[in-house]
Amino acid sequence: MNQKNDSSNPIDMTLAAEILRNNDRGGYTIPTDGLYPFQWSWDSALVALGWMRIDESRAWEEAETMFRGQWANGMVPHILFHKGAESYFPGPDVWGNTKGIPSSAISQPPVWATAIRLLYEQCTDRELADAKLRLLLPKLIAYHEWWYRERDPENTGLVCSYHPWESGMDNSPAWDAPLAAVPEVSWSYQRRDLGHVDSDQRPHKPEYDRYLYLVDLYKRYGFDSQKIYANCPYKVADIGIIAILHRASKDLIDLCRIASHSDGVEALQTELDQTASAINSLWSEDKRCFMSRDLITGKTLDEVTTATVLPLFGGLTSDAQSEAILSLIGEWLDDTSFGLSSTHPSSPRFEPKRYWRGPVWPHINWIIALSALEHGHPEIAARLRRCTMACVQSSGFWEYFDADTGAGCGGDNFSWTAAITLYWLGDST
Ligand code: GLC
Repeated sequence: MNQKNDSSNPIDMTLAAEILRNNDRGGYTIPTDGLYPFQWSWDSALVALGWMRIDESRAWEEAETMFRGQWANGMVPHILFHKGAESYFPGPDVWGNTKGIPSSAISQPPVWATAIRLLYEQCTDRELADAKLRLLLPKLIAYHEWWYRERDPENTGLVCSYHPWESGMDNSPAWDAPLAAVPEVSWSYQRRDLGHVDSDQRPHKPEYDRYLYLVDLYKRYGFDSQKIYANCPYKVADIGIIAILHRASKDLIDLCRIASHSDGVEALQTELDQTASAINSLWSEDKRCFMSRDLITGKTLDEVTTATVLPLFGGLTSDAQSEAILSLIGEWLDDTSFGLSSTHPSSPRFEPKRYWRGPVWPHINWIIALSALEHGHPEIAARLRRCTMACVQSSGFWEYFDADTGAGCGGDNFSWTAAITLYWLGDST
């Protein structure tokens, strides 16, 4: 099957739907065959939005399957290993969690409550939506409580991340300094990603060695939150996670109000207030955006990436900050032809096709477009949509796109690209 679009033709929505169906493994959707053969958390939330355009009950099922893997402490793991597959490393044996559905031991950007809100508001089958919302609300609340309790035990208002993979922006240059302080594993292993994708689009070995050291550490501490908090050599206040969590908590409170569900709402509101008062400590007047922070050294992670503008999405910005960020975005778009590059092109660490160090990611551009629209800049939203969809139109449904040429990179026939295309183009905004 040729899954490429001809650039002279409109985007093939039938093909987008077909990609989701082909990647459906029965109740959950893999990101792409081979490279990512399991269920990933934030992929799945975005994929549910795509399913909504073609099959509403399947959209809800995606969420239900994910939350079946929720840990007893509320965490939603970043990967659920529903069935065995040899094409991915590190698998469940390396992560070492054997309770319930085998899973990883970290989470991913908590975009679920926001996705559920969109599903709830836009699904046409109201009876189904009400039933699913009632079922999912307590699970979503437990998930958000987990973030605030386990990842901000000192109540600073800023949750912390324990792994670059938790950010979803795995190889971002913003994580270079904190990751460099993590020891490397001494055991040998065989990467599987390089069998699917060119090495110039993937992380280097020393980074992988450190990723695995962290995976080992969680297992060594028996996944005990307190011990990990006290001993993890990688602790980052990731502005992307903080902003996405903040927005999702607001969406969750609104969903609770709709469903007359009061348990947990007051506590969530307290957390929101705490983050809103702490966030300005991450603002950079000079860069016109918010920077992540290394919580071990206390140093600012001085790299302008697409994460640094996400407080706009989180509703965490003052009017002046919103305008400053939107002017930064406007100029950034002037410097690129295919939508926002994951790292600002002026950075010495910008690499146009290496995984999160420069390429364009359609779902991030959608999130930023939505934020621009909400802040009264429809022209920026329209521009982002046009540039991002031009990549899909000319290259196909790839995992991400070369920021300089718009060529497809990473995995092909990728679920979140197909899903965001279905969702975005099916939306009149
Ligand atoms: C990569 C991405 C991550 C995504 C996963 C599955 O690891 O960095 O964000 O969730 O692939 O698509």
